[in-house]
Amino acid sequence: MLVLGIETTCDETAAAVVFRSLDGLGEIRSNVVLSQLAEHQPYGGVVPEIAARAHVELLDGAIGKAMEDANLKFSDIDAVAAAAGPGLIGGVIVGLTTAKAIALVIGKPLLAVNHLEAHALTVRLTDGVGFPYLLLLVSGGHTQLVSVEDVGRYRYLGGTVDDAIGEAFDKTAKMLGLPYPGGPEIELLAVRGNPGRFNLPRPMLRRPEPNFSLSGLKTAVRLEAERIAPLSDQDVADFCASFQAAIADIVVDRVRVCLGTLRNSVWQPRALVVAGGVAANQTIREALEAVAAEAMIALVVPPPELCTDNGAMIAWAGAERLARGMVDGLEASPRARWPLETVPVPA
Ligand code: KG4
Ligand code: ZN
Repeated sequence: MLVLGIETTCDETAAAVVFRSLDGLGEIRSNVVLSQLAEHQPYGGVVPEIAARAHVELLDGAIGKAMEDANLKFSDIDAVAAAAGPGLIGGVIVGLTTAKAIALVIGKPLLAVNHLEAHALTVRLTDGVGFPYLLLLVSGGHTQLVSVEDVGRYRYLGGTVDDAIGEAFDKTAKMLGLPYPGGPEIELLAVRGNPGRFNLPRPMLRRPEPNFSLSGLKTAVRLEAERIAPLSDQDVADFCASFQAAIADIVVDRVRVCLGTLRNSVWQPRALVVAGGVAANQTIREALEAVAAEAMIALVVPPPELCTDNGAMIAWAGAERLARGMVDGLEASPRARWPLETVPVPA
């Protein structure tokens, strides 16, 4: 089956066509991502009103390009999937309404996809990973550990009690005078920095529940930066390296604890999967390699362009649902909040 996928929950306007074979293998036929980064950059973060307007302006072009790249007509498509949340509601409305219009006109089913479920299932498209697996979802908006047991069956095991990890990267970068998004900037400068220079806290370390807390770490950077201001380039690089090392330690500890809680469970994971923009970070990735090796499971990370928001993951999640006989009606609602554990479960 061929599914058109539309993603508009944050600041990427994206559309893609994905093929799913009867035996469950996936193939990306096109994947168009139009970034709105330049429009948000002056504000140091995503401005919801600007994002919603940009989606209106960019989405038709993104869909047209996705169809053209895949060399398909709308009549060739078997279903239309759109991210129906969670996300910035203005953008979600734009994407979902457009998907409904296309589905209605071509007389094909609509799939109202949960954006987090799409991140969770991406490794089945890229690497054919089998259930169950442990997902660490780390993006600008989310930091969660989820047991992925089947399509529609997700168990929340832990998550952040304050900031998301990507958000902590972005806010810390801003304090250090670095541009948005902060994650890639911090990773780049950390190469020249000393990770042992600043003794930053690792909140929640060794706590038995696999939760995260980032706000204390962020505040520690701010207080120390204020104390030694003005900052030289070397100071900034040392902060980047020290901050990144603290995050890597926190992630390793939290994932290790989480794997420990699953040790005697029937849902013993076959792989550790990392998704979301922060998964692009090489230091965090390498640290997680060691944790996965220790647990004797594989670490699977989708390629960077499929870790960040994209239409292919939405199309694929739609295809996985359609293959299990699930569709949504045209009355499906856009949702700003939509916890992963509350998505519909296949019969
Ligand atoms: O998944 P994503 O593209 O968008 C959502 O938040 O949904 O993730 C973006 C986040 C930003 O906070 C960005 O700073 C972070 O991912 N990020 C990184 C890196 N690349 C992107 N964080 C750390 N290291 C990176 N290399
Ligand atoms: Zn995302």
